[in-house]
Parts: sequence; structure tokens; C-alpha cells
Amino acid sequence: MQIGSVILAAGMSKRMKSAVPKVIHPILGKPILAYSIETAQAISSLPPIVVIGHASELVMQNIHADVQYAFQKEQLGTAHAVTMAKEGLKGRVDQVVVISADMPLIRKETLEILIETQRNHDGPMSMVSMVDDDSRGFGRVIRNESEDALAIVEEKAATPQQLKIHEYNAGIYCFKSDWLWDALEAVKKSAVGEYYLTDLLQIAVQAHQSVKVINLPDPEEAIGINNRVHLAEVEKIMRRRINEAFMLDGVTMIDPERVYIEAGVEIGQDTVIYPETYIRGKSRIGKNCEIGPGTIIDDSIVGNDCRVLKSVMEEAELEDHVEMGPFCRLRTGAHLARHVHMGNFGEVKKSYLGEGTKMGHFSYIGDAQIGNNVNIGAGTITCNYDGQKKNKTVIGDGTFIGSDTMLVAPLTIGENAITGAGAVVTKDVGDGEKVVGVPAHAIKNKKEEGRT
Ligand code: UD1
Ligand code: CA
Repeated sequence: MQIGSVILAAGMSKRMKSAVPKVIHPILGKPILAYSIETAQAISSLPPIVVIGHASELVMQNIHADVQYAFQKEQLGTAHAVTMAKEGLKGRVDQVVVISADMPLIRKETLEILIETQRNHDGPMSMVSMVDDDSRGFGRVIRNESEDALAIVEEKAATPQQLKIHEYNAGIYCFKSDWLWDALEAVKKSAVGEYYLTDLLQIAVQAHQSVKVINLPDPEEAIGINNRVHLAEVEKIMRRRINEAFMLDGVTMIDPERVYIEAGVEIGQDTVIYPETYIRGKSRIGKNCEIGPGTIIDDSIVGNDCRVLKSVMEEAELEDHVEMGPFCRLRTGAHLARHVHMGNFGEVKKSYLGEGTKMGHFSYIGDAQIGNNVNIGAGTITCNYDGQKKNKTVIGDGTFIGSDTMLVAPLTIGENAITGAGAVVTKDVGDGEKVVGVPAHAIKNKKEEGRT
């Protein structure tokens, strides 16, 4: 059985009050439309057909998925929109699933049940309804005394009696492909001048063909986004779904409602995530870590047994057993090796800090290659920018950088060297050398002094 899918995304979405089309507003880092596309891909034999119209260039620029686009020049209604997919699907598939781009919570399991329902009966279409207190402006499902669905009436057109019906059209359909394209031709313009896809129900019923309506057990799935209140509501549900999956996989969350993790992130077992933590993009967190509270991790890697407290990481990497924070910032290319300790108010950019190196307080390290077991005293700064270009600082293993040292790059400091507090180091320092002052000059270090 060949399944085709159509995603309706051509509408104006005026109620978002936005300069950009609704379907590219992001939810947890992904455009709204990307969710429907993934769901449709999961059940389709061909790439889904996305019907676009309003701001179509912007939509296409923001979607990076294997889909086919169909253009609806004028938004003449949902039936007209589906007709735009005819060329791509007619004669190629047995069934056509239609969903809307503004309903990212629909699960693929629901579509599978719908497809199965359609497969197992003779009629030309199956659809999804749900029962809820809040109508959200949805069309009402009209049934006769024997409970057969007869028609869908849009809220705008409903009589007071019909408005009392609590069974709504979710806007999710599966059609027999052979039937669909001709039936669409039969749809007449509504009172508001649109061609309604929902009329297909009546068209089938009038031809004495059976229509199956399956009920959505979880009405949440059908929440559509029409304005930014709905956007926030859907985001919250999506976040809960993602967080629950992590928790069931062995990640602890202290107050999951206040944890923001994007799909695609990886987190190891027994890691604890504290509130107000954002983990986004292609981030990977190891096992046994403590992340947050108040931490933002974007496109970064965190090893096992790390602690990241109230800090920010962007395209950075921590190896195992790193402790960091509070109030640290790792920018692009920061790489902290095993057992690095980074205390409060530190910034590291495009630099490597070797195993066991300590950077306790108030330092900036940029464009540096730092060895193992280096002590970076409070207030140390790599003066990496000379006004024109960025210069590199290299520090060898075991070196002690005194508090408030200015490391004027380009600069190389050897192994087991010492800089005095407040030194402004402008010239390279050899292995074991001790330098002090402004500008720094070599003096005998204590051990040698003791010998004289
Ligand atoms: C539609 C249903 C309604 C159902 C609801 C569920 C119709 C007439 N009504 O109403 O019964 O309860 O969905 O969400 O179908 N679109 C186009 N081209 C158009 C018009 C719409 O691509 O010419 C797209 C929209 O961008 C949107 C989708 O189709 O993604 C649904 O259209 P919308 O206007 O939002 O219909 P609803 O009023 O929600
Ligand atoms: Ca809608």
C-alpha cells in the first residue's frame, strides 16, 4: 500500500501578528512546520507534499527536509489547497493523508491508526475527531441518531444548537486516492468564498459511502497554533514530551517544567538537570553530571562526571570530571581537559586547558594552549588582541601564573615557570623561569635564592 501525504501550510496566519509566516516560528529550536514534516515522513511512501503560498520563499529557506512543494497562489480554502498536491500524488499512491502545518503535536501513531482504519473499510475517507470542553474554533462533527457522521460545520457557520456539540474535527484525514481528486472537484464555494475540505464528508455521505471517524484519545495532539498563546501552550507540551523521554531513560530532572531541552540532545544516565537550564542544538552530555541550575549549553559536549553550575557554553567541550561555575562562559572552541577546575567569573574562548589545570577566579583566556596542572591565578588575562589581530598564548605544564598577570600575546611560557602577582608579561618565559613586574623581567626563583 503506497501512502502519500499532504501538509497544508499556505495560510496567512494573521493572528500571529508577525512579519514571518507562522509555520516557521520555532518550537524548541525547530520550525513548527518541521514537526508535521517529520510525522508525515514517518508514514509516507513518497516525500510529503507541502502546500505553501503565503511567504513561500521564507518557508522554503527555513525548511531543510526531503519534501516536495506545491504552490497555492491564492488561499481559496483547504479543499483548494489539497488540489495543489494532485499532480504530485494522483496515480502514484493508494491513500492520501492530509494534515495541517500548524499542528505539531500530532503523533505518527495516530496517523498509523487512521491509515489502518481507512485500509480496513470500503469507504473513501477516514478522519479524526476529538471530544473536549474547549472548541478552539474547530468545526463541529454533525451526527445522526444512529451516530453516523454526516457533516462538519465550521464554528463560524454553526447554529446555536450545533455550537453545543463537543465533538470537533481535528483536521486530520486519510482518503482513498482514486476518489479524492474527483471529489475535490465537487466541492462548492462556501458562504465566505472558500472551498472547504470538510465538505468531502458530506459529499461521501450523500453518495451513500461510509466514512469512518476515529476519536483522538488525547485532545492535546490536535492543538493548533493560531496565535502566540497557542504557541506557548504547544511549546510547553512538546517540552514535557521531550523531558519525560529523558527521565524514562535515566536522567533526573529537578522540576522538569523549568528545564528546556531540544530534541536531538543526548544526555547520559544518572545525570541531574536543575531548573532554568537550557540544553540546545547538537549538545551531548555524559553520565553522572550535574547541570544547572541556571545553565545554558548550546552545541557543546560535556563528558562524564562534570558539574556545570550557572554557566554558559557555546560550541565548547568539557572532558570528564570538569567542574565549572558559577558564572563561567565558554565560547566557541573552548576545550577543558579532564579534571579542570574553573571557578567563578571566568571566560574561555578558542583555548585548550590541559588536565588538572585550575582557573579559580575572574580570568579571561582566549586563543591559548595551556598545559596540564597549570595554576591560573585570580584575574589573569590573556591580552590576545593587539587592535588588529588575535595572537596566541602558550603555557607549559605545571606553570604557576600569579594573580592579576597580564599575558601580552603572542607569548610562550615554558613548563614549571612562575609569574608574580600583577606581572605584565610581554616576552617569552623559559622553563622554570620566574618573572615579575611591569613589564615582567626574570628574577631567581625562591629555590635558587635559598641556595645562594
Ligand atoms: C480547519 C477545518 C476545521 C477543523 C480545523 C482543525 C476546514 C474548512 N476547517 O479549520 O473543521 O476543526 O481545521 O484544525 O478545513 N490552508 C492552506 N490554504 C488555504 C487555507 C488553509 O494551505 O487556502 C492551510 C492553513 O495554512 C492551515 C490549514 O490549511 O495550515 C488549515 O486551515 P485553517 O484556515 O487554519 O483552517 P481552520 O480554521 O483551522
Ligand atoms: Ca488552524
